[in-house]
Amino acid sequence: MKASVMKPIRVGLLGIGTVGSGTFNVLRRNQEEIRRRAGRAIEVVMVADLDTERAKQMTGGSVEIVSDGRQVVSHPDIDIVIELIGGDGIARELVMTAIANGKHVVTANKALLAKHGTEIFRAAEEKGVMVAFEAAVAGGIPIIKALREGLTANRIQWIAGIINGTTNFILSEMRDKGLDFDVVLKQAQALGYAEADPTFDIEGVDAAHKATIMSAIAFGVPVQFDKAYVEGITKLSATDIRYAEQLGYRIKLLGIARRVSAGIELRVHPTLIPATRLIANVEGAMNAVLVQGDAVGATLYYGKGAGAEPTASAVIADLVDITRLATADPEHRVPYLAFQSNEMADTPILPMSEVTTSYYLRMRVADKPCVLADVTRILADASISIDAMLQKEAGEGETQTDLIILTHETKEKHADAAIAAIESLSTVAGKVSRIRLEHLG
Ligand code: HSE
Repeated sequence: MKASVMKPIRVGLLGIGTVGSGTFNVLRRNQEEIRRRAGRAIEVVMVADLDTERAKQMTGGSVEIVSDGRQVVSHPDIDIVIELIGGDGIARELVMTAIANGKHVVTANKALLAKHGTEIFRAAEEKGVMVAFEAAVAGGIPIIKALREGLTANRIQWIAGIINGTTNFILSEMRDKGLDFDVVLKQAQALGYAEADPTFDIEGVDAAHKATIMSAIAFGVPVQFDKAYVEGITKLSATDIRYAEQLGYRIKLLGIARRVSAGIELRVHPTLIPATRLIANVEGAMNAVLVQGDAVGATLYYGKGAGAEPTASAVIADLVDITRLATADPEHRVPYLAFQSNEMADTPILPMSEVTTSYYLRMRVADKPCVLADVTRILADASISIDAMLQKEAGEGETQTDLIILTHETKEKHADAAIAAIESLSTVAGKVSRIRLEHLG
């Protein structure tokens, strides 16, 4: 049938908060352009939100509003369900019911996919429906499209991303303005970047959800959030941010997925990266993802990772994709996780002890002869090579000083053992502050 005479595709929206209202507004504002691209009009016919009054205001009375999402996922006239509720409670139930009812699904829900993606994609495949999730990773940046389609020729070697705007905003403000963590977190919440539960942001969980999804697409393995190493920014001190700067590095919360000979590294943690790298200069709530492919080399994707219309941009791109492919045979569509579902690999996700990286180590040491020799001997015995060192002069009247060491690459278990030995020296006070370091070269 000619595109211009096809009936509009009908959409039901679950949740009309920040992203939902952005999606509704952009769809309406750009409807003509979107129709010309999609080949059919895309029409929101029903919205479910607990706050029905707000939903009415947002939609201007043009759409049926209900408070119960079950009415949307079981409505016979709805072709595509957009899930923007978040979390893996009711959202999971509604997505599974929508699939069971033969509806295509668009979701921005990274937690849901990182934890239950295998179950969701299996059910969708059985029903021959699409599940699209561009908005789940890095908001408006089309990184899923890039990984799944644009880079399909490549053996992807690693991905390193600033994929949580809240923490990047906090780190930027702490470094630039010397502000306290709590003050900046409140600002991020007011600006609408933070998750409903901001501990997901600051403890690295949100970034780990996104890294998990990217690792599956990059390496053709199932989503395995439970195997990800997750460390947030709450223990990061202003002192380390300052010393990193003096040594020519910036500290970013990175989501890393890397293929090595023994398996896959999947980890989120604060990371020193050389200040000269483009990605080190991604500031504020912006996101960026660096992907290393064997054919293309390094590619960098940058943009807004959160917010109403940037995220709506990704949601609508998925709507258009689904609209174009709704009448195609399921086997002619792009696989959910880039690789055909019967071609997924069981490459193991490595425990953190087996991960290889470099380290920034800061310790408070007695300002006495032999201390440096003792520390460097421990590192040498563990075959950890030193890349750079910074020893501050002890302050007037002080008997202790800061010693900072940057190491070359080693396995985490060797670094752990060396750090424990250093902490047991009588000349070292307290704990060693350890931050991982990646050159991203
Ligand atoms: N809380 C997320 C962030 C929102 O700060 O990036 C987008 O997933």
